Amino acid sequence: MERHVSQILVTGGAGFIGSNFVLHWLSQNKGRIINLDLLTYAGNLGNLASIEGHAGHVFVRGDICDRTLVDRILSEHRPSAIVHFAAETHVDRSILGPEAFLRTNIQGTFHLLEAARAYLETLPAEERSSFRFLHVSTDEVYGTLGPDDPAFHEDTPFAPNSPYAASKAASDHLVRAWAHTYNLPVLITNCSNNYGPLQFPEKLLPLMIGNALAGKPLPVYGDGRQVRDWLFVVDHCRAIETVLEKGVIGETYNVGGGNQQANIDVVHTLCDLLDELVPDSPQKPHRQLIRFVQDRPGHDRRYAIDPRKLERELGWRPQETFATGLRKTVQWYLANRAWMNEVTSGAYQNWVHMNYGQRGEHKNESASAGAR
Ligand code: NAD
Ligand code: TYD
Repeated sequence: MERHVSQILVTGGAGFIGSNFVLHWLSQNKGRIINLDLLTYAGNLGNLASIEGHAGHVFVRGDICDRTLVDRILSEHRPSAIVHFAAETHVDRSILGPEAFLRTNIQGTFHLLEAARAYLETLPAEERSSFRFLHVSTDEVYGTLGPDDPAFHEDTPFAPNSPYAASKAASDHLVRAWAHTYNLPVLITNCSNNYGPLQFPEKLLPLMIGNALAGKPLPVYGDGRQVRDWLFVVDHCRAIETVLEKGVIGETYNVGGGNQQANIDVVHTLCDLLDELVPDSPQKPHRQLIRFVQDRPGHDRRYAIDPRKLERELGWRPQETFATGLRKTVQWYLANRAWMNEVTSGAYQNWVHMNYGQRGEHKNESASAGAR
């Protein structure tokens, strides 16, 4: 049965997926959103510019680790759900500086769970029974797959390999424990790699788009044969909406687009699309910008998600193919160069220097033929 969710607290709603979710939710007049976001380097109010002044959106700049603030928001606004996106999310950053990941992803989730538990006690029975805590997580908690292994399903044992994945796995375990021990009405989603508008250019696709448009090298880690299972961000938002409205308390749902591709193939497709969409580009053919660079330490080889539970039990299906989603994404970045310029000024340059400065370039015999 579908639940009507009136007013929700979203954490991390100024980041990539969170802001897409806020825009998607409000575009359907689903109800009011209280958006709690610390505005770290990854959070950007510019992502929400199109809903500035919208009566259905209340933005609060703050930290999910600030228990007093979270308690105040809950008692003041009395949301019927918390949708928890806020996190440190970039694997390379977690390798260079893991501490922030432990703080936000583990402690932050702990504080939110405790605040939700205390808040629930204050609600009358009817509101208590309709409340949900939806924890947004990742497929990286399951570790890495061999080429012929079956895709991750909801019962795949956790085997996180990066500090990011370990911190998300820890947060998933906390959410599960709070459901089991305190009967907190939780839902968990574990999704594969997202791409789409408003993604910060530290992740593969927006980084490659930004570099390609600027005529900079396209740094492919290792041999470029690592496989990811790509999902258009709005399809992920629709999945979260579906789980929130129809999901069974205590259940985990895997979300994925059934679209596994090697990184080098993704970059080739992107380069060819840029050749088509920017026909007068001096960088054409964009494939000439590809460079193989030193690999990421502990780099997971393959992720793949089995989304059949979500499809079968709740009726969700992705609406975009990789071809349609990628086209929309590139068109968005081409139409929003000012957004890219703004987020890549200042501290971003330090990040690029830190992450890419030492990697160097190497020949990749197996893949370089395709890169030329
Ligand atoms: P993002 O890095 O783009 O955004 C994270 C947001 O959280 C930012 O707006 C940031 O300001 C905010 N934030 C960080 N620390 C905070 C704190 N202590 N208090 C309040 N706000 C804080 O991340 P994203 O890619 O949008 O990912 C959102 C969620 O989805 C994460 O939980 C991530 O693990 C999960 N996820 C992401 C992907 C993906 O491909 N991007 C895939 C599956 C799951
Ligand atoms: P990323 O977008 O960081 O997501 P995740 O590590 O969570 O999967 O990276 C996606 C893939 O692209 C991953 O295998 C690492 C690779 N990659 C590169 O080859 N070069 C880059 O500059 C980046 C950022 C990622």
